[in-house]
Amino acid sequence: MLGEACTKPTVATPATPASSTARANPATASFPDTLRTMNVLVVNGPNLRRLGTREPEKYGTTTHDELAVLVTQWGADLQLDVEVRQSDNEADLVHWMHEAVDAGWHVVLNPAAFTHYSYALRDACALVSAASLALVEVHLTNPHSREEFRHTSVISGVATGTIAGFGVEGYRLALEAVARRVG
Ligand code: DQA
Repeated sequence: MLGEACTKPTVATPATPASSTARANPATASFPDTLRTMNVLVVNGPNLRRLGTREPEKYGTTTHDELAVLVTQWGADLQLDVEVRQSDNEADLVHWMHEAVDAGWHVVLNPAAFTHYSYALRDACALVSAASLALVEVHLTNPHSREEFRHTSVISGVATGTIAGFGVEGYRLALEAVARRVG
């Protein structure tokens, strides 16, 4: 677990000691084991607690709790120490970006509706990037194929990269991107 649990659920794996035999995941096999354990904070913004029942035709049927378990397992497979948090509150997200900077955690962020207008969150994300930490913006849907107001992301300009439109699989892709970039 990376830090204090802020909202339920916080699902995290303990840091895995480096071992030359413990991991055989082909996605990470090329990286030296000594570099393999790193911390990643996965943050989901407003209304994503409702996953599973919120517009399932768009966002799928995986609940947030199920997503947290999947993301944690995917992280463990990549030898990442992952913690998942969710909040509807902009200030929580801003403070979690500050926490990531201070702790040296990489960030996978689905800013949800804050994507489109939160300059406060953008500025906090800029601090993550400025600290040479990865910040991967994730969206379950492809906002560019939806309403026009979703076509603008104020986060993308300060993100390391963006993954959108692949449902929950996007989080796995984001973790792989973090692992490959930093490893
Ligand atoms: C979202 C897309 C946003 O436009 C929307 O406000 C969300 C979810 C996505 O994951 O597709 O809440 O970030």
